[in-house]
Amino acid sequence: MKKKILITCAFPYANGSIHIGHLLEHIQADILVRYKKMMNYKVWFICADDAHGTAITIKANENNVSEEYLISQVLKEHKKDLFDFDILYNKYYSTHSKENLFFVKKAFNCLKKKRLIKIKTIKQFYDNSKNIFLSDRYVYGSCPFCKSYKEYGDNCSSCGAFYSVTDLIDPISVFSKKKPVLKKTVHLFFNISHFKNILKKWIFSNVFNEKILKKVLEWLKIGLKDWNISRDDPYFGFKIPGFKKKYFYVWLDATIGYISTFKKLSKDLNLNFKEFWCKKSNTKLYHFIGKDIIHFHSIFWPSLLDAMSFRKPTKIYVHGYVKINDKKLSKSKNYIISAKKWLKYFDSDSLRYYYASKISNGIEDVNINAKDFVYKINSGLVNKIVNLGFRNFKLINKYFDGMLAKNLENISEYNNFLLKFKKVNIFFKDLKYKSVIIEILKIADFANYYINNKSPWSFIKKNTNLLYVQKVCSMGINFFKIIMTYMKPILPKLSKKVEFFLNSKLSFESLKSPLLNHKISNIKILYKRVSMKDFNKLLKK
Ligand code: MSP
Ligand code: ZN
Repeated sequence: MKKKILITCAFPYANGSIHIGHLLEHIQADILVRYKKMMNYKVWFICADDAHGTAITIKANENNVSEEYLISQVLKEHKKDLFDFDILYNKYYSTHSKENLFFVKKAFNCLKKKRLIKIKTIKQFYDNSKNIFLSDRYVYGSCPFCKSYKEYGDNCSSCGAFYSVTDLIDPISVFSKKKPVLKKTVHLFFNISHFKNILKKWIFSNVFNEKILKKVLEWLKIGLKDWNISRDDPYFGFKIPGFKKKYFYVWLDATIGYISTFKKLSKDLNLNFKEFWCKKSNTKLYHFIGKDIIHFHSIFWPSLLDAMSFRKPTKIYVHGYVKINDKKLSKSKNYIISAKKWLKYFDSDSLRYYYASKISNGIEDVNINAKDFVYKINSGLVNKIVNLGFRNFKLINKYFDGMLAKNLENISEYNNFLLKFKKVNIFFKDLKYKSVIIEILKIADFANYYINNKSPWSFIKKNTNLLYVQKVCSMGINFFKIIMTYMKPILPKLSKKVEFFLNSKLSFESLKSPLLNHKISNIKILYKRVSMKDFNKLLKK
């Protein structure tokens, strides 16, 4: 029997809008979800807003609203943006929830019981002018590893390294813009090195691709430092039971959010929670994350799960970063395109198609540029795929009242055509979407060539052999139907349109036999070309 699969994306921070960088991940995962569903797998797909931590407080203060108000507004906005891109979540929740508090406390109790918490007095940055301890993002400096300037807190957005805030070179407080002082404070640490061997075993169970496995192995070799899971007041998050003015670090409750979001879903849908999370679970757990958060998911998260006696992830798919014209996206430099802004100029399927045409299962960055985008949509999607359907469909509508022929011009040609998609299935399964598109375009070339060769329009001109024309065009439409069935996980909006015009659902089962003696609907436009001008407008501030 096919195993049940739980798929997650990393939780976007609730301090800003969904942008096209986030969307790469949601689209990559959503395509797999849709493909697996079409292959009759039982799949659940969840995500949530990451609603705690200093970044939320900073944003709430900027907007002059409470943190609670901010995260409730942002949650609504995020849900809508993701829905507009057809990301098919079964549940999109928040880490600021009673379920999450429950599991965070549960995790904490497990850690305490297993004596995996150490209490240590450490020196931390303190801003004398504000009289507060400065956690995470309230301090910036240069990364101790790659020296990248203005990195906030305890991990580097440039090289992905993880360190202690006090390791930052030339630290500055965001409040006073002065060098903060070091002051003693008590913190709770999770003894991660306890899990070294467990992690070693787990990472060799085919969780990562080779490159990432190497990286994680390196971290294990260097040795695992105790992980500080507490933060001082003021902090927006869950209070640590039994400690005054201490909060759980956002990354602890964020990862536990995977469990609590599923808990909420399981309550809503009456699913068996334990079946998915117990140590011996027979289900699969796939996480999609960006390369900047590998450490949290390869070291901390599986250690936490182990401490809670829960199952560990089956696969962690890591992707690279989206860039525009080879430059990194940046919120602070206003070099970013929000989901909403994209939709002002283009539809969601165009971004889904474009990303699919550029990504595989590796961590290479994904560079977006106008020329490439316009070329891929206009000469790939529109000229090769959409037009194959459209030109045949126009003849069928005009001369045969929308009726497909009773027989195909050549049925074995139909069956041969279906066989061409074998490779496509493997590419989908391995997340090699770029290869999916390349292969499908090749197949579309073949189909177009086939129709050109038979030249049905020349018979129309001569007004002879109309039955033959109908058969050839019906073949063309069936070729198009097969192609669109394989494109359905990538292009949900266009597929819906195509289903409407074919009066038929696009499913792998329905491909076993061709559509014949069947009426199709009239449709004016299937898909519009895109323009360079619009892309340039999109890039303008
Ligand atoms: N809140 C954490 C994740 C917690 S998961 C329990 C976080 N949030 S984030 O909003 O910064 O990023 C969410 C996801 O989007 C991450 O996987 C991150 O790598 C990804 N991306 C953010 N910017 C991106 C690009 N420019 N390009 C590609 N992915 C990007 O990390
Ligand atoms: Zn760095």
